[in-house]
Amino acid sequence: MTGFQSGIPAVDAYLADGFDGVRGMSSRFSATICAHLMRRQSEMGIRGSVAEIGTFEGRFFIALGLALAEREHAYGFDLFTWPDDKVLDRFTENARRNGLAEQRFTPRPFDTGTLDVETFAGLTGRAPLRFIHVDGEHSPEALGHDLMLAHANLHPQGLICLDDMLHPGYPFLVVTVHDYLRAHPDMRLMCVIDREDIVAAPKFLICRADAVRLYETDLMATFKSQHFILGGDAMGHHCVVLTPNPRIAEV
Ligand SMILES: C[S@@+](CC[C@H](N)C(=O)[O-])C[C@H]1O[C@@H](n2cnc3c(N)ncnc32)[C@H](O)[C@@H]1O
Repeated sequence: MTGFQSGIPAVDAYLADGFDGVRGMSSRFSATICAHLMRRQSEMGIRGSVAEIGTFEGRFFIALGLALAEREHAYGFDLFTWPDDKVLDRFTENARRNGLAEQRFTPRPFDTGTLDVETFAGLTGRAPLRFIHVDGEHSPEALGHDLMLAHANLHPQGLICLDDMLHPGYPFLVVTVHDYLRAHPDMRLMCVIDREDIVAAPKFLICRADAVRLYETDLMATFKSQHFILGGDAMGHHCVVLTPNPRIAEV
């Protein structure tokens, strides 16, 4: 994919030479698009720190951290116990090796299911977050809870990114997102980022309805070669669909 980059030199260097060396489940495709979105936020003056629920060994987190502007911070929540008790060590080593300075991020070893909105806010700098990646426990109850934490701590023009949507291993997890969107009519599914593989499944990008215009036209123009022009029918609204190889079935 020639020219398929985030436009942030540190992130693009990591994605080209580093990303594959960090164990994880997010795709390079989605990390490129999300780092581009953070660049766009910075250019529009949308400021704030970022958080990830389900940091694992840092594959996606490092890209977010390298996309931060001055005086912003990255918070990584995980149990850090799976598959063994050395996962936190590998996470910090991966961050160091890929140029994410230790003063730019903080691991948060918590079960997010035990946190309330206030506690989560206290653990993320007590200011609205501009990008929140939700990739922790994939049960409907846990996702519902993590979405509640993210929603309450989101910058008005910020983005919630949900991983493993439409993953064959979690076929009904989208029902939780549907319930969330019905309960929050001010929120929209703005974009679906398609899969690269079964271990790098699609992500949903959610934001406030009045923030959609900040992102959707730019995404369609910047990632023209990845844009599925029919888009997606997102509960009566139109959403952007980006996919590595856009096409419709031949008949
Ligand atoms: C799919 S992995 C995350 C992959 C990572 N985001 C990446 O891009 O490579 C899911 C992670 O969520 C963590 N997790 C599961 N339940 C959790 C919980 N209740 N609280 C915090 N983290 C949790 C697991 O420990 C695991 O590391």
